[in-house]
Amino acid sequence: MSPTRYSRPRALLHWSSALVILWASLSGYANAAWPLPGPIARGISQFNVALTTLLIPVFLLRIACALAQPGPDDGVHAGALGRFLARAGHLALYVATAAVLLSGVLMMDRPIDLFGQASLPQPLAEPVLLDFFNSVHHHACLVLALLVGGHVGAVLIHQWHGHRVLARMKP
Ligand code: HEM
Ligand code: HEM
Repeated sequence: MSPTRYSRPRALLHWSSALVILWASLSGYANAAWPLPGPIARGISQFNVALTTLLIPVFLLRIACALAQPGPDDGVHAGALGRFLARAGHLALYVATAAVLLSGVLMMDRPIDLFGQASLPQPLAEPVLLDFFNSVHHHACLVLALLVGGHVGAVLIHQWHGHRVLARMKP
């Protein structure tokens, strides 16, 4: 029989990843849009690079968990189109997150400092490739932000209509 909610590991991975992604998106755009004082801008950038690099193993674990522990059946959408859109939306969130993480690492023009505890070498040196992945990161971040906006909007609308979707994702 299919479970009635997401497993505890999947819920914990969902909410911890959501926190990091929401923070990295909001602070990343704030950093790009406003002329923050140099040390604050550099501090946010260094912190976000370390935090989101550490999200990569968490993201891989999340994919493994999603494959090993199927979620509940779609008990919310009556029609096939609604069920398809919900599944496609979740898959798109995974694909966009992967694109953002990979392009972020590949655009790095310096070694990746992990909170002063370890450092990963800069993966690419060729300036044309760095520019290319910078542009991919920019566009992938935009797509991810739009998808997350749609996702949160859909969750709120379902809750509003009495579909208890948040309870399915309770850790
Ligand atoms: C899901 C994870 C991530 C999110 C949500 C995210 C989000 C963002 C956003 C919103 C921006 C500003 C984009 C713009 O100006 O168009 C940005 C810039 C940047 N990101 Fe990411 N990013 C993520 C992962 C990464 C990773 C893994 C790295 C590298 C290891 C990275 C490195 C950078 C760098 C170097 C910039 C340029 C500005 C700066 O230095 O802060 N990002 N990111
Ligand atoms: C405040 C922010 C968020 C809320 C309230 C929220 C809420 C939820 C809820 C209630 C579900 C379960 C849907 C169902 O019943 O099947 C869900 C699933 C999901 N959410 Fe979020 N979410 C948030 C942020 C995010 C972010 C930032 C991502 C970015 C990747 C994300 C990705 C997913 C994915 C991929 C699923 C499918 C289940 C899984 O594979 O983990 N969510 N979310």
